Amino acid sequence: TILSTRQMLRDAQKYKYAVPAFNIHNMETMQVVADVAKTMRSPLIIAVTPSTLDYARTEYIVAMAAAAAADMDTPVAIHLDHFEDSDKIKQAIQAGFRSCMIDASKELFEKNIEMVKEVVAYAHRYDVTVEAELGKLVGVEDDLVVAEKEAAYTNPADAMRFVEATDIDSLAVAIGTAHGLYKGKPKLDFDRLREIREKVEIPLVLHGASDVPDELVEKAISLGICKVNIATDLKIPFSNALKQFFAENPTASDPRKYMTPGKEAMRKIVEHKILVCKSQNRY
Ligand code: 13P
Ligand code: ZN
Ligand code: NA
Repeated sequence: TILSTRQMLRDAQKYKYAVPAFNIHNMETMQVVADVAKTMRSPLIIAVTPSTLDYARTEYIVAMAAAAAADMDTPVAIHLDHFEDSDKIKQAIQAGFRSCMIDASKELFEKNIEMVKEVVAYAHRYDVTVEAELGKLVGVEDDLVVAEKEAAYTNPADAMRFVEATDIDSLAVAIGTAHGLYKGKPKLDFDRLREIREKVEIPLVLHGASDVPDELVEKAISLGICKVNIATDLKIPFSNALKQFFAENPTASDPRKYMTPGKEAMRKIVEHKILVCKSQNRY
């Protein structure tokens, strides 16, 4: 069955590993993450953004995830990633989602709290877990001045107030990661993460984990990150493998042929990310 992320994140927090949340877009990418998680006995969060849900359609995602979950005895959740519209979240919960992120991080503090509280009130009635974000996921340019950094990164004292006011189940933190690839080498504010961890008891979430060196992700996990979001690092090898296949086979037209190298390339990365999260052989 499709689960919420409550128990899997608690387990990860207790044993100091992270559950990988892989962003998928279609049947092929869902099959890869499910197959690898099954083989490696890792818990799995299958993440979909609003545009993925529009593209692949809610009912298809839920049905495919149910098929994947029925085939494995390790925990699987489907998660709404970066949803900004509470009505869309409610619809998806009715369709079978058991985990969501309400992203009101662009809003001012009080408005963020208000929007998150509304989703939590609804979601918890269905035992659905809610993640929210405080701070903004800006890049980590070396020249980011202190004032800019203070404005964008998660403030530990505010984080405590935010969690208490909203009753969320997990908190996405802004400590220097950004979505997609980095211009230079990302720098993470581990002191800040440590301080947030001291003030906040619920599981913490790292967004933008693609292109972050493994050792930095591992360190973040050791300091309390329990969920690691990965999108770009899967999309690029999948597409590159297809491009290479078509370059070598310009007349190819069979999806079963040209999708297979994409799945293979993605499989290797998913395996590696599970090792970085240390989530293998947990169940
Ligand atoms: P990346 O694309 O950097 O992996 O970010 C993924 C993410 O945060 C999804 O919510
Ligand atoms: Zn994200
Ligand atoms: Na990234």
